[in-house]
Amino acid sequence: QQLTSESLYAINHFAQKFFSQQLLETDEGRNIALSYLKERGFREDIIHKFQIGYNPEARDTLTKALLANQFNREILPKTGLVALRNNDELVDNYRNRIIFPIHGNTGKIIGFGARVIGKSDRGPKYINTPENEIYVKSRILYGAYQARMAIDKADECLLVEGYTDVVSLHQAGIENVVASGGTSLTTDQIRLIKKYTSNLTIIYDGDNAGVKAALRGLDMALEEGLNVRLVLIPDNEDPDSYVNKVGVSAFNEFVAKSKKDFILFQLEVMLKEAGNDVSRKSAVVNQIAETLSKINKAEDFTRQQDYIRQCAGLLRIDEAGLTNLVNKYKRDKI
Ligand code: CTP
Ligand code: MN
Ligand code: MN
Ligand code: MN
Ligand code: MN
Repeated sequence: QQLTSESLYAINHFAQKFFSQQLLETDEGRNIALSYLKERGFREDIIHKFQIGYNPEARDTLTKALLANQFNREILPKTGLVALRNNDELVDNYRNRIIFPIHGNTGKIIGFGARVIGKSDRGPKYINTPENEIYVKSRILYGAYQARMAIDKADECLLVEGYTDVVSLHQAGIENVVASGGTSLTTDQIRLIKKYTSNLTIIYDGDNAGVKAALRGLDMALEEGLNVRLVLIPDNEDPDSYVNKVGVSAFNEFVAKSKKDFILFQLEVMLKEAGNDVSRKSAVVNQIAETLSKINKAEDFTRQQDYIRQCAGLLRIDEAGLTNLVNKYKRDKI
């Protein structure tokens, strides 16, 4: 087990150097991949900082380099960098893709995200490292290694969907940012964030999928005692495209003015949907009581009281009644 982990780290380390060199020091890398990154607005300093690279188009450039460096043939497919074809032939798995290395909390590379260049007409837009001894998807927050000090300093963690969102925001000087990789948050990811701060601001796409993904993480985040706020990026943009479109200061202003407390946001959305329908409105009361019951830790008691007051106000119901309902949900859970 230990042996395997060490080998995986060693291969990833070698591969990252290889990918960087391919991106920056070969004609193919510069003409195809670096120019694409630059067109999108990424600067060389940020490309270095995130150790972004390129896997060439030919079938086995990386594979040959790995084999020439005596890495164990049997273990290579585990990294996802190399695929086994026709039983005994090894080929590069991320051919003609931009490579985003993913760092674990000690800074060692645990895996990669590999993006097609330009529009994805062939295959998925991203391929990610398969689960293995060191790459456990549910525990990964892309950018956490680069962001950890900024998160601590700001006492706030921004959460975005994707690799390019993290990189672009760093470039814009916003460094306390990590990505969930498109999926909704897991308990392990929330605990990782909790090590640095209790203030989480989710910055997701404003489309339905983004809102739904954000909502799915909410109960868990509350149970872990996080303050969750939400920013929705407008009009089919994501943080990367939006900051490139409007510029750094307009982006910062937008985030500051549209940051909403997540529970109150959820309540507003549900109330709007319920309209004047009495039974739907009472379902909303129950739903919000259940959400509030997740704020469960003793030290969060005052915060829960504040929420109950504000929610009761929005719902135009009695505060004591809502408190009772919240307590009922708490008891039911036990
Ligand atoms: N993702 C993935 N596999 C896919 C599509 C998406 O793992 N086939 C993950 C990636 O981590 C990606 C994130 O979900 O960064 C968000 O997806 P998307 O918004 O489609 O990509 P972007 O990050 O915006 O990438 P780009 O700007 O390069 O299109
Ligand atoms: Mn702190
Ligand atoms: Mn989206
Ligand atoms: Mn994008
Ligand atoms: Mn996106």
